[in-house]
Amino acid sequence: MISTTMQKLINDQIQKEFYSAYFYLSMKAWFAAQNLDGFANFFDVQMKEERDHALKFFDYMNHVGGTVTLQAIQAPPATFASTLDVFEQTLAHERIVTASIYNLVNLAIEEKDHKTNAFLQWFVTEQAEEEATAETNIRKLQLIKDNPQGIFMLDAELAKRVYTPIAPAP
Ligand code: FEO
Repeated sequence: MISTTMQKLINDQIQKEFYSAYFYLSMKAWFAAQNLDGFANFFDVQMKEERDHALKFFDYMNHVGGTVTLQAIQAPPATFASTLDVFEQTLAHERIVTASIYNLVNLAIEEKDHKTNAFLQWFVTEQAEEEATAETNIRKLQLIKDNPQGIFMLDAELAKRVYTPIAPAP
């Protein structure tokens, strides 16, 4: 059994992960409307991964006898200033999610909840990867600036991203 405080934070995290999926789905829509299908594909995969993160927390909660309480998901932004802006917002968002995961880890340590701490370590690694990916794309877009050829080349690269379902919890 996990503590009531931990259950609350996990329920909050489920909401944040579903919001992340919604946020990236909005980015997919923004790129799809411009026929930038590679960028749209990148955010389609991102959206599916975030949904999987939410479900991983959902499954864990059930596994340890906690109670899932789903929360409202706010509307994400519908438009973005530029392609670079999308990735800058992605990085800023992922940093918030990382802080939230760290908060969960801190609570697990405080409560000596080793099982939840072990479960959370997958997310610690995942967050590091997500931040690194956003940073890489930001650096590429800073080099490309508004060069259409560069945008099309990156679009072709991002079209190759493939969705791989994550292992279920725990
Ligand atoms: Fe599941 Fe990108 O945070």
